[in-house]
Amino acid sequence: MNGSWRWLLLPGFIAVAIGCGRTESVTNPSEWPTFGHDVSNNKFSLLTSIDTSNVAQLHEAWRIEDSADVAGMYCNPVMLSNRLIGLMPSSRLIAMDPASGKVLWEFKPDSSGISNWSKGITGHKGRNGEPDLIFLIYGGTLYSVNAETGNVMENFGKNGRVDFYEGLEVPDSMRNLVPVSSNAPGVVYNDLFIVGCKVPDELPSTSGDIRAFNIHSGKLEWVFHTIPKPGEFGADTWGADARKRNGGANCWGGMALDEERGIVYVPTASPSFDFYGADRPGQNLFANCLLALNAKTGKRIWHFQTTHHDLWDRDNGSPPNLVTVNRDGKKIDAVALVTKMGYLFVFNRETGESLFEINEVPVDTVSSMPGEKPWPTQPIPTNPPFARQGYKEEFYGRSANWINNEIEKNKYKIGIYEPPSMSGSVILPTAHGGANWGGASVNPEKNLLFVNATDIPWILKLTDLKKIRAENELNGQTLYMTHCKGCHGADMKGGVGPDISYRVKNYNNERVANVIRKGAPPMPAFSFLSAQQIAAIVAYVKDTAVQQQFEVAGVPQNNEPFGFNGYNFYLDSAGDPAIKPPFGTMTAINLDNGEIAWQVPLGEYKKFKKQGIENTGSFNRGGGIATAGGLIFIGATEDQKFRAFEQATGKILWEQELPGMASSIPSTYSVNDRQYVVVAVSGNEKFKGGYVAFALP
Ligand code: HEC
Repeated sequence: MNGSWRWLLLPGFIAVAIGCGRTESVTNPSEWPTFGHDVSNNKFSLLTSIDTSNVAQLHEAWRIEDSADVAGMYCNPVMLSNRLIGLMPSSRLIAMDPASGKVLWEFKPDSSGISNWSKGITGHKGRNGEPDLIFLIYGGTLYSVNAETGNVMENFGKNGRVDFYEGLEVPDSMRNLVPVSSNAPGVVYNDLFIVGCKVPDELPSTSGDIRAFNIHSGKLEWVFHTIPKPGEFGADTWGADARKRNGGANCWGGMALDEERGIVYVPTASPSFDFYGADRPGQNLFANCLLALNAKTGKRIWHFQTTHHDLWDRDNGSPPNLVTVNRDGKKIDAVALVTKMGYLFVFNRETGESLFEINEVPVDTVSSMPGEKPWPTQPIPTNPPFARQGYKEEFYGRSANWINNEIEKNKYKIGIYEPPSMSGSVILPTAHGGANWGGASVNPEKNLLFVNATDIPWILKLTDLKKIRAENELNGQTLYMTHCKGCHGADMKGGVGPDISYRVKNYNNERVANVIRKGAPPMPAFSFLSAQQIAAIVAYVKDTAVQQQFEVAGVPQNNEPFGFNGYNFYLDSAGDPAIKPPFGTMTAINLDNGEIAWQVPLGEYKKFKKQGIENTGSFNRGGGIATAGGLIFIGATEDQKFRAFEQATGKILWEQELPGMASSIPSTYSVNDRQYVVVAVSGNEKFKGGYVAFALP
């Protein structure tokens, strides 16, 4: 029997009109059929067995731990075909018995890849007796896997595999420099699998185009250029050659689909490189947008850009939610988007008209960086934000003296849209959010939206890469000419020893360093060189190999002149966030009027509790889900706890320590009338990463 029709026999079957609007989506309420539960992405389950009255009795039902190395876990597992299916840290897709966690099948992609960051997989319920499918992107490959058996669908692409570079403009010879994968699932519309991609944040990169593949054949059906080609709408919002020179504007958080209208809503990320934009003058459409695309053709219907000419990495990383709001006695089908800025945008699904007033506010246009032209205005909605806006003295808290001193001494700039500089600025909210990939969940019966946010400032500084590179290269070059040139030639193309230019560019830094340190018989070991000297040689040979590669590919090399100091929280002299708590929050927003219904701290730190400072909230990543039982389930916090909040009040009704941090979105489903809540847990020294499921006794 196949999952595609078996559920029709279930007594619990009902047709659910998600969002009460016209988006009829028939879902078996006992399943969690795809990422975000369904294409509305509301992460809402109709299950009610676990509710506000009994959730306190919830206890661990089973857990599964990976056998291989420790790694992060971000996957929102799906439950369909009577299997719970999700990614494991060691590059595997597994299907578990949803009642016991016992592994039923496993699928190993061809390569290990960057998809450990994957937020989930796309589940598709087969129609007309076709099998349920899982679409999975791993490394540079898109797979179609039979959900019941774990076998690839042979007719999809070549033996169940599609080259995920298809339709992107990355020359073959540049592939190792421009790794493309996807860490966000897509959506299925009729016979199309619509998906974004992950492209490098640093240059070289490529345009993060949105693509649709045929779900049966794997054939590429349409491409939407998120960096427009010359002549296309929006091309004049970039400099010349933008598709070759720049990159990014990709969708890495997931999308939502209005099946009836045939519109897919796609949030896009910032352009690459994130923090310096002199080489991408203009507004940079369609980076940092919410795009409404015709799902059949990929043609743009409307767009809204949430940050113009982004200089702060303010990706739209949260998947949008399809909602229906009440306005003047009328119901309006809308699409909601929460952002890293802590804003909630709500647009009419068809017209793109905002349901709350948005002001284009003038911002600082003076940048100290050469050639940088910050955009003069930014869109700020008038409905209340769910995260603090801008680093202000009233937020400094107990470290106020230290902070005032530091800011004065270092001449740090402060402001929400302060252009980044080499001297540094303190920004809030940051690229961590506000909201991040966990996005929001929605209870469509109550028209409440629930969102978790981080509320800790960053110290953002740009660095002079040219200078760092020049210093490194100078040392590296001298060392290379002394120790290596004799055998490999001045240009690495070979002499007594082999041509190493090709190998060096394919090896990562660590591997090249190992060859130097340990030798590769008959090549001698250079164990007498210091770690610094080896690092300098590695930097030199890698850089040289990369430059040679650009020449071969005939692509203009954009040697990014500036880098940044990393994703650094602004910490005080005690190493604590230099801001008054709460450092993280959970917020409920009334979708009809945009008002905040409640806001409470999310998470806590043992350190502060010991000092008698309670309810601090914590840095969080991952997201929550909502149920018709009146609950929100969320992990996401650094204290490694899993919690149930009451939707009506924000009260914590249950919490339980996990073996690691749940930087993921949970799922809920039921088997034999028993409801489970499951969450992916990241690895650490004690737990290798896996899933933990909870149920009532
Ligand atoms: C005495 C000659 C000699 C010197 C000096 C020498 N190499 Fe080699 N190197 C070789 C030979 C021969 C090989 C091929 C080994 C093999 O068959 O894989 C090699 C291989 C390599 C490889 C590829 C190894 C692999 O696993 O594929 C790298 C990278 C490399 N050399 C880098 C360097 C660097 C950097 C230096 C200077 C610190 C250096 N070599 C100095 C002779 C030399």
